[in-house]
Amino acid sequence: MKTPFYLSILVILFFTSCKNETKEIDSSKKAKELKEMVSKINPSNAQIGLDMVFTTKAQLGKTLMETIAKKGTNEALKYCNIKAIPLTDSMATVHLSRIKRVSDKTRNPNNKANETELKNIEAFKKMLSNGKDISPILETKNDSVYFYYPIVTNGMCLKCHGNPDTIEKDVLASLKELYPYDTALGYSENEVRGIWSIQFKSK
Ligand code: HEC
Repeated sequence: MKTPFYLSILVILFFTSCKNETKEIDSSKKAKELKEMVSKINPSNAQIGLDMVFTTKAQLGKTLMETIAKKGTNEALKYCNIKAIPLTDSMATVHLSRIKRVSDKTRNPNNKANETELKNIEAFKKMLSNGKDISPILETKNDSVYFYYPIVTNGMCLKCHGNPDTIEKDVLASLKELYPYDTALGYSENEVRGIWSIQFKSK
C-alpha cells in the first residue's frame, strides 16, 4: 500500500526538526549564509564585476606564482598573458561579458587603455595615494555595464615590472626580445599598474 502524502510530509518534518535540535545551528551564521546565498542569486552589478575580477586574478596569480616557483621567472613570462587564461566562472558567459586588462604604461601595446580607461586609472591612483578604500567605478550605457577596478602591484610583480637593475638578467633579456616597446618597468609595490576593464549586460 502507498503511504499517504501527508504522512510522508510529517515524517520528513519530524526528521528535519530532529536534525535541527541535535545540530544546534548558530542562527547568526545561518543568517550570514543566507545573505550570501541571496546575493549569489541576485547579485548587484558591482558584485558581478568584483566576482569576475577576483576569479580571474586568483587564476592568474596562482599560475604565475606556481610557474615562478617551479620553473623560474623567465619561464613564467609566457604565462602572464591574460587571454591565455580561460575564465572558468560561468559568469563570463551568463553575463555576456568581456574582460580586459589595460594600462597607461603597457608592456604589450595591445593592452593600451582608451580615454575613459585612462581617466579611471588616474582616479584610482588618487584613491590609492589618499589612502581611501578602493571601490570599483561603474558606468552604465543602454543595457551594458562598464566596470573598472585597479590592478595594484605587490612584491612579486617587481620580478618583471620593477626597476631594471633589480630584474634578473635573463628575464630582462627576454623582455627586451619579446616586448621591444615595453614601458611597464620601474614600478614599486602598491602602485596602480593598470585596471580591469569589464563590460557586461546589466541585470
Ligand atoms: C614573470 C613575469 C611577470 C610577473 C611576475 C608579472 N608580470 Fe605582468 N606582465 C608580464 C608580461 C610578459 C606581460 C605582457 C603580457 C601580454 O603580452 O599580454 C605583462 C602584462 C601585464 C599587464 C597588462 C598591461 C601591459 O602592460 O601589457 C598588467 C596590468 C600586469 N602585467 C600587471 C602585473 C601585476 C599586478 C603583477 C603582480 C601581481 C604582474 N604583472 C607580475 C610579466 C609579468
